[in-house]
Amino acid sequence: MESFGHVIGGEEVASVGGATFESVDPWTRAPWATVALGSAEDARRAIDTARTAFDDGPWPRMSFAERGQLLHRLADLIDAHTDELALADTTDMGKPIAQTTSHDVPRSARNFRFFADHARITPAETFPMPDGHHAYTRYDPAGVVAAIAPWNFPLMMATWKIAPALAWGNTVVLKPAEQSPASATILARLALEAGLPPGVLNVVHGYGPSSVGQALTESPDVDRITFTGESTTGRVISRAAAGNLTPVSLELGGKGANLVFADADLDHAVRWAIQAIYSNSGQVCLAGSRLYVQRGIYDEFLARFTAAAEAMVLGDPKDPATQIGPLSSQEHYEKVAGYLDVATADGARLHTGGRADGWTIRPTVITGAGQRARVTQEEIFGPVVVVLPFDDEADAVSAANDSPYGLNAMVFTRDLARAHRVANALRVGTVWANCFFVRDLRAPFGGAKNSGVGREGGTYSREFFTEPKAVVMEIAAS
Ligand code: NAI
Ligand code: MG
Repeated sequence: MESFGHVIGGEEVASVGGATFESVDPWTRAPWATVALGSAEDARRAIDTARTAFDDGPWPRMSFAERGQLLHRLADLIDAHTDELALADTTDMGKPIAQTTSHDVPRSARNFRFFADHARITPAETFPMPDGHHAYTRYDPAGVVAAIAPWNFPLMMATWKIAPALAWGNTVVLKPAEQSPASATILARLALEAGLPPGVLNVVHGYGPSSVGQALTESPDVDRITFTGESTTGRVISRAAAGNLTPVSLELGGKGANLVFADADLDHAVRWAIQAIYSNSGQVCLAGSRLYVQRGIYDEFLARFTAAAEAMVLGDPKDPATQIGPLSSQEHYEKVAGYLDVATADGARLHTGGRADGWTIRPTVITGAGQRARVTQEEIFGPVVVVLPFDDEADAVSAANDSPYGLNAMVFTRDLARAHRVANALRVGTVWANCFFVRDLRAPFGGAKNSGVGREGGTYSREFFTEPKAVVMEIAAS
């Protein structure tokens, strides 16, 4: 068994009361690591340490170049530890090692490099005033940031929050998801090795309600809360944050619509549609879990899509050939498997897929579900896609917008004007036209409706993780 502690004030430590929990490998279904189980008291220790590091320490007072150098060193160490970090996430939550190695870990390093450079080179505004004054904006660090991360991209989502927070001079307390704690401790060890001052990046393990998560969101000493997870948790965190008027950034659930028009390049659309729903076994907030196909190509598209889904390689996520691993936990497997029964009880059909061995679900296609069916409206968060036909553009747009979520959508068409029209009409945070998952880290990332509050990325992260300050100066005395 491996062992992972909290990292508080530059030391890897046990919980105050010595409590631990076990992290389960969802492929073997056996514990593989012992993890410190934090309580509200451990959370308070971490907040106090981060507070002191912010109020009295060097980090917020360094130049962007100095901080950037340390964050680049951390990025280099992440790259150098790719195998260890990829294996930690794969063992904790079952994502195929090919994905953690080729995507999650390199993207985590890129998060640090991007935000370090972005903070260093981004200009701030000046406002020359004709009456003999000028105004300018300072982007002062906000203070102590609580980052609460999900289990579906453990290292990648944690670094997406930590990197801009640190680059802008804040100190951080990270609570990783209880299903995927290991890579957070490894990251904090690497941060110390890179030379980040003690107390700048702290990690506390534990649960959400009545535990570390709740203590972080209720603390008056926390200045920003950034959270990714389910929409109901987002509401709870918003309420807790309201007690101290702490600003929150919430990236919540999704039910991505993927619109395939008859004029699309079908090979291209099938390839992206497969990736949009089945990568990471569909445990992706951005998953294209509602696939709307124009009626003229519906049968052909469905046949090609089904063949590609059935060809995917299931198995041990530690095998580099595996494309579909187990779901992240028994609890989550039961939730997703339950939706297969919900679909058939509602009169829909399992066109292909279903349960496999252990906690694995085969790539599943549901047909014959209505627009109002639970499987069409609710976030399943598994390798389960609902395929529905549509007649024309207006039909496609209204079906896509008929959702409590508004995170993202995809449109496949060769008609450029249509791609722009549809992108304009969709009530979502991101639209991908003829592609999926491609990111420019300067672009806003976040969701409309129940998919979230606020945006992160580039200057959007700056707005959230700083306290923008207006300074107005008289330059011509009267
Ligand atoms: P969750 O929202 O309960 O957990 C996410 C994080 O929030 C974890 O670190 C958890 O410990 C923490 N947390 C939970 N309750 C909290 C509270 N009251 N105060 C502070 N922190 C709290 O998500 P869960 O239960 O792991 O997954 C359930 C469903 O949520 C999934 O089936 C999926 O539908 C959705 N989900 C969406 C994600 C996304 O990327 N948008 C990521 C993870 C889950
Ligand atoms: Mg939960």
